[in-house]
Amino acid sequence: MMDTAALKMWATGRIPSARLAHCSRVAQLAQWLAQRYDVDPDKARLAGFLHDCARDESPARLLELAGLWRIPVTEVEARAPILLHAPVGAELVRRECGVEDIQILDAIRFHTTGRSGMSPLEKIVFVADYAEPARDFPGVERVRAAMFECLDTAVRLALDQSLRYLLERGYLVHPNMVAARNALYM
Ligand SMILES: [Fe+2]
Ligand SMILES: [Fe+2]
Repeated sequence: MMDTAALKMWATGRIPSARLAHCSRVAQLAQWLAQRYDVDPDKARLAGFLHDCARDESPARLLELAGLWRIPVTEVEARAPILLHAPVGAELVRRECGVEDIQILDAIRFHTTGRSGMSPLEKIVFVADYAEPARDFPGVERVRAAMFECLDTAVRLALDQSLRYLLERGYLVHPNMVAARNALYM
């Protein structure tokens, strides 16, 4: 795997600066959350820093890379290819940065939708992405208030609010998001 300096160089060359600033804030918050919940802070920091490395690829390119790398594309993803920035991003850091840690890769892979049975690291990156300090939308304060008290509560709030947002606008909902949400109510 690349060392920290090489990873920073790689990310700087690939990710536009505004997005990179978001990635750094997610990395920092993910590290703090990891320390709070006894998760490996280095893994959290790394997953947080790299989570959006494919976020600025075009929908066409995301579909192309998914095809090239045999990443399964669901019907919802075919219609909303931006969702693929998560699984494509995971594969990208595996191929280009030599990240082989499945926990880190899964935290990147599922950072947008979540999934049923999320690991603590996946929950941390999901919440950090949702609530990093520059995020400013209705309900973000509720997640911030919960995230150092109870990780599951923070994920549940974030998922419920995201689902409400999608439903109110008539957007498609990824099945993993419903599964992630239901898992926290069972
Ligand atoms: Fe993302
Ligand atoms: Fe993000």
